[in-house]
Amino acid sequence: MRQDHLITATQLSRGDIEAVLDRARAIAADPTAYADRHAGTVLALCFFEPSTRTRMSFDAAAKRLGIDTIDMGDVSASSVSKGESLADTVRVIEGYSDALVLRHPSEGAAQMAAEFVDVPVVNAGDGAGQHPSQTLLDLYTIQETHGLDDLTIGVMGDLKYGRTVHSLATALTNFDARQHFISPESLGLPRSVRFDLHETGAQIREHDDLGAVLPELDVLYVTRIQQERFPDENEYHRVAGEYQIDASVLEAAADDLTVMHPLPRVDEIAPDVDDTDHARYFEQAHNGIPVRMALLDSLLESTHE
Ligand code: NCD
Repeated sequence: MRQDHLITATQLSRGDIEAVLDRARAIAADPTAYADRHAGTVLALCFFEPSTRTRMSFDAAAKRLGIDTIDMGDVSASSVSKGESLADTVRVIEGYSDALVLRHPSEGAAQMAAEFVDVPVVNAGDGAGQHPSQTLLDLYTIQETHGLDDLTIGVMGDLKYGRTVHSLATALTNFDARQHFISPESLGLPRSVRFDLHETGAQIREHDDLGAVLPELDVLYVTRIQQERFPDENEYHRVAGEYQIDASVLEAAADDLTVMHPLPRVDEIAPDVDDTDHARYFEQAHNGIPVRMALLDSLLESTHE
């Protein structure tokens, strides 16, 4: 890693990504060789928004490296509920830990936290912004199934508020990937992300229908409509339920199409897809362990240098 923090996918070069994925693969091959590697260090888990996978997989990954974890717990039970600012909270927690994983509803929160503390900060989701550690496990999964070059990927669902999409799309510009974005017009990529993609010369196309591109895809990355980010509940109900897939839709896909989803899903992937060879989303979630072990290992290693 060129930096001690992981805030956005834009900071990840191809070399950074490959280094983490190679390390994750070595860890997956022999996890016990990494046990106790960071004994005596403490990781703080600071989640200001709900989380299952990210919180638990960081916790498990840390423990598998011998790292102790401390968890801020539910926001309603912390001093945040007394009106404490994020800057004060992270400055205090910095004194209790060697690294900090932060999820927060405000875009830019992780960047702001990183400016206040000296320990590494991992952005575990900042509002509708970025979620770069998810991207590393997504890339690991794609690498395992198809390889990262000469890839045709479709990203479908809530591209506007879906932070995993923003990070993944950015990171894929390091590779030879054709990216198709499929969403209702109202949930298309944010202008800033589209701009960044165009700046890198990325091969992107936007569609409002999956049918036309499905047969040419190697990977279909489905996302949840992010209900909690809609300013208008009616607007959510207008688009919710669109862009769902089931096993019959996938009959038009290539036999080796990989279907991914950062999870949690609501109803965008029908349960009958789980029984097909396309479904890789549970494996994808499990890949969070070796990938987050590799990430923590590399961040803590660079602070010790
Ligand atoms: C995602 C998130 O929190 O952005 N979940 C995750 O970390 N795997 C996706 C989502 O909530 O839809």
